Amino acid sequence: MISIKPIEWKDDKVIMLDQRLLPQEEVYITCEDYKAVAVAIKDMAIRGAPAIGVAAAMGVALGALGISVKTYDEFYTKLERVCETIEATRPTAVNLFWATARMKRVCKTHKDLPLSELQNRLKDEAVAMCFEDIETNRQMGRNGATFFNDGDRVLTHCNAGALATAGFGTALGVLYAATEDGKTLKVFADETRPYLQGARLTAWELNKAGIHATVITDNMTAHMMAKGEIDKVIVGADRIAANGDVTNKIGTYGVAILAKHHNIPLYVAAPMSTIDFSIPDGSHVVIEERPTKEVTHVGPTQLVPTGVAVRNPAFDVTPAALVTAIITERGIATPPNLTTLASLKK
Ligand code: MRU
Repeated sequence: MISIKPIEWKDDKVIMLDQRLLPQEEVYITCEDYKAVAVAIKDMAIRGAPAIGVAAAMGVALGALGISVKTYDEFYTKLERVCETIEATRPTAVNLFWATARMKRVCKTHKDLPLSELQNRLKDEAVAMCFEDIETNRQMGRNGATFFNDGDRVLTHCNAGALATAGFGTALGVLYAATEDGKTLKVFADETRPYLQGARLTAWELNKAGIHATVITDNMTAHMMAKGEIDKVIVGADRIAANGDVTNKIGTYGVAILAKHHNIPLYVAAPMSTIDFSIPDGSHVVIEERPTKEVTHVGPTQLVPTGVAVRNPAFDVTPAALVTAIITERGIATPPNLTTLASLKK
């Protein structure tokens, strides 16, 4: 039903669908080394927390393949430098750091292997993480689909679909799973200024999946909710704190306040790899500030007068109290809090 491959490992190269060009063009780029992967993440050729996690792992694997030294210690030191380059791309989505940490762990666990075998082991791990992510999303979809009824009109913010993952999606994955169960949903995608992930990417992939999509501008949400035209909200996440505070695309917090005011449930779908149990609440998350050009321009057209101050925080924090449930592959945390989230850990 939805078959988009935003990232793939092929012939010791990483192939990515260039999301900057969607929906106008479907172009794939090839990253031949880890530096190219880092640039692709930073410049948003690939984006979305789980997708950048997989990209990071593949970047580390490419970096590992390019290391030519004699000893394990030298190898590990160089691998750490590769990880640092990749970790310096985007600070907010924890999946990126989760992925580099996992790759370093695998390296340490197999330190006794000959270096060429260790390189292959790291490559296998990155490829496995890609397949794992799709399976995780499918399980999340099965877990979350029960919240949605035939005929529901659902708002989503940003893009938490197949494009934002290795495939299938988190928030949109839940909607795809509900659709596979025979439910017909009407999805509202808000534009998601300034980067327009909703208008460009969510609308594109829902269309491809044959799901009815309506694009609204971000400032229409309150009106649509007041008119009774939205039954439920579902979004993804970039980092969830131990207490259930959800960091996600800028604007999510506003949507959550509106949903609470109108008594509309707000669901967050995210893999366990997005939960950062090391931080007690959302105030500890580093919020990425992106280039101001994303605000001042739409495509090549400048909207804001030159010289005017502009801010561009790319994420915000929604307090757990505004979230009805967090849907993961391990189960549901509702209401999300320290206890319900901790119980999902192994
Ligand atoms: O800046 P982006 O496009 O990487 O931000 C993406 C989001 O905020 C998504 O909602 C989040 O990563 C969840 S994706 C499954």
